[in-house]
Amino acid sequence: GTDHRIARISSAIRVIPNFPKPGILFQDITTLLLDPKAFKDTIDLFVERYKDKEISVVAGIEARGFIFGPPIALAIGAKFVPMRKPKKLPGEVISEEYSLEYGTDKIEMHVGAVEPGERALIIDDLIATGGTLCAAIRLLERVGVKVVECACVIELPELEGRKRLGDKPLFVLVEAA
Ligand code: PRP
Repeated sequence: GTDHRIARISSAIRVIPNFPKPGILFQDITTLLLDPKAFKDTIDLFVERYKDKEISVVAGIEARGFIFGPPIALAIGAKFVPMRKPKKLPGEVISEEYSLEYGTDKIEMHVGAVEPGERALIIDDLIATGGTLCAAIRLLERVGVKVVECACVIELPELEGRKRLGDKPLFVLVEAA
């Protein structure tokens, strides 16, 4: 059942203290990728949830949304759209800024990758403060796309990123400290 799969996924995620900075407990999904059953369970759980929701766009956030997004997109028959860090995409882009602890960052998407009226799922490995997902939602909504839901493998509930998403639904597989 689902609980068995979630338990396997949770135990396949490695936690590394003090990375990338002292005091941060890094949630490392590369070990999940080393366990083919756990990796497949991860993709299957998302596919089961989204296959009948008429989603035409899976938008994956750099970098680890590029790992989980494409297999989901292929399985549900949707296009995959990369949401990239600044100055990586070669064509004309639209971008959205978001605030960090110190300063700001930006994500970008190719103009013409999506059309008004499309239905999107946004995928990333993890939600912390929610700033990145918020920017991705704004970016897609600016071009007339309906964001049906955001999905992550891991949520850090203490950072309350979910609140920042307002009433936009967020689906996660695992909660971490
Ligand atoms: C991490 C994570 C999310 C984002 C979540 O990416 O993969 O994309 O942070 O944080 P937030 O909810 O506070 O916005 P990271 O900044 O490590 O970039 P990378 O994926 O390029 O390594």
